[in-house]
Amino acid sequence: MTILKIDSSINGENSASRSLTDSITRQLRASNWGEQLVTRDLVADPLPHLTFEAFADTSVLDEFLGADVVVIGAPMYNFTVPSQLKAWIDRIAIAGKTFHYTANGPEGLVKGKRVIVALARGGFYGEGSPAAPLEHLETYLKGVFNFIGVEPEFVYADGLAVSAEQRDTALKSAFIEVERLAA
Ligand SMILES: Cc1cc2nc3c(=O)[nH]c(=O)nc-3n(C[C@H](O)[C@H](O)[C@H](O)COP(=O)(O)O)c2cc1C
Repeated sequence: MTILKIDSSINGENSASRSLTDSITRQLRASNWGEQLVTRDLVADPLPHLTFEAFADTSVLDEFLGADVVVIGAPMYNFTVPSQLKAWIDRIAIAGKTFHYTANGPEGLVKGKRVIVALARGGFYGEGSPAAPLEHLETYLKGVFNFIGVEPEFVYADGLAVSAEQRDTALKSAFIEVERLAA
């Protein structure tokens, strides 16, 4: 079994999403002896913006397809994914490989893969909240993964920029959720 860990926060050691992806992968490996871990740090080693020439290199797609579990750290930057993570998605959402169009519409081709996303947001975007219309992180990632055939699982750390207390509370409940997901 292979776990692929993808990080995209620019925040280094202070990153909430990185601490969550570390915890998720550590616990998954503890409960499933022998898991192989592959890491891709999209900040230390950024992928360039997509070009037509870039489609010839399928290494990022192959790495994704080869993983049994994919753990993604997704901080909210300007209401959506960091552009580093978008460049990775541009390598994995490939017609004929991860989805195709049929007479009945698009169909996802990715089967049997577990995708766990650690969301880290400065504010609150729950249904009915004033900022809800600006939520393009969780909705986007759910949409993209559903499109290629995967139902992603989410861990939430919200309101991280609101106060130190809220940050503590959000991270504590996120780590409890991680234990549940990794069990
Ligand atoms: C460049 C930048 C843009 C951000 N934009 C938003 C935003 O649009 N909405 C929000 O709720 N938080 C925003 N934040 C706050 C982050 O989502 C929050 O700090 C979160 O902890 C980032 O995850 P990380 O700790 O893993 O880096 C932004 C932070 C940065 C650095």
